[in-house]
Amino acid sequence: MPQMRIGLVGAGVIGRTHAATIAANQDCTLAAIADPSEAGRALAGELGAAWYPDLPAMLDGETVHGVIVATPNDLHLPNALAAMARGIAVLVEKPVTTTVAQGEALAAASLSYGVPVLVGHHRRHNPIVSTAKRIVAEGALGELATASVLYAHAKPPEYFTLAWRREPGGGGPVLINLIHEIDLVRFLCGEIASVQAITSSARRGFAVEDCAAVALRLESGALVTISLSDCAASPWSWDLAVQESPSYPPQPVPVQTHFLCGTKASLALPTLDFWSYDGRPDWFAPIRQQSLAVARGNPYQHQLRHFLDVIRGSAQPLVSAADATRTLRATLAVHQAAASGQAVDVASSFGGA
Ligand SMILES: NC(=O)c1ccc[n+]([C@@H]2O[C@H](COP(=O)([O-])OP(=O)(O)OC[C@H]3O[C@@H](n4cnc5c(N)ncnc54)[C@H](O)[C@@H]3O)[C@@H](O)[C@H]2O)c1
Repeated sequence: MPQMRIGLVGAGVIGRTHAATIAANQDCTLAAIADPSEAGRALAGELGAAWYPDLPAMLDGETVHGVIVATPNDLHLPNALAAMARGIAVLVEKPVTTTVAQGEALAAASLSYGVPVLVGHHRRHNPIVSTAKRIVAEGALGELATASVLYAHAKPPEYFTLAWRREPGGGGPVLINLIHEIDLVRFLCGEIASVQAITSSARRGFAVEDCAAVALRLESGALVTISLSDCAASPWSWDLAVQESPSYPPQPVPVQTHFLCGTKASLALPTLDFWSYDGRPDWFAPIRQQSLAVARGNPYQHQLRHFLDVIRGSAQPLVSAADATRTLRATLAVHQAAASGQAVDVASSFGGA
């Protein structure tokens, strides 16, 4: 089968991860990079890909079967639309767009053009997550009662030399990191009905938060809490626990970051420790622990393989634009809830029904 030709728009931090992921896949090739920066041009030269200053120029000059949009957030929508208008499937990075209205516009365009959009919530492609999803869906936990997530790590001062990372609109761990937790909660535990939240910028003093405490009520009635910080000297963060990027050093011991507690049994991630009773659940009876083995896998490679299937038409996007817009809506509701001090009904927020 001929190799798929992929065009990459935006060759920054995550764009480079996509470029390396494409290089490691035999079924596709990096045909071209569109990025106006000198660094983007240099990367194209290093990788033997064509270079263009922007996506329209790339689409005029190259035949590509799929486009990966890894630009700053405000350019996700126009770039995705430009590719889709030519019938080209798109993998667009998270957040799908900057506003719910834009996300809905992208989802509507996907339907009207008949062109699929996959959104880069890459964690869903992690084999640990697919295994956890299967365990929950099979009912092994019974009914979910509560879940708790700890996402705490230390971003060094140099991370914040880029101004946008200190400013509302794109910066802050709610939009950058919590959105992955919200997506995982939706994927594993079910839809979010309402959000309550407190945020704080007390540790760094930037305009954006450095900590958040979030409480979610799910449509099922289950309750979820998420504790978030990007200024904590802590190993308890998904990215570090699963060593999502080779830039993170291995943990000296396995740590757990997600705790799903059901009426029959409970599950901790990423270790997939399954806790259950032989008989009726009873805190006076012995509880049994099993570690469910799963092969570790690189979620970006799994995501790319899935994108190739989406391009071929043999798979529907695991994370569609409409799905990712629901994640965005619930994430933006965290800021709204923190600002108002009120619980936010997710379905009716941001112009919802
Ligand atoms: N899935 C993940 O884990 C993950 C991780 C990091 C970033 N992201 C997302 O990826 C996107 C990019 O983030 P980043 O950290 O790589 O940013 P970055 O600033 O490192 O890179 C952005 C790149 O886009 C280029 N660019 C700017 N305008 C452009 C244009 N008009 N056409 C083409 N290229 C243009 C810039 O020159 C830069 O090289 C963001 O939406 C971010 O939220 C996702």
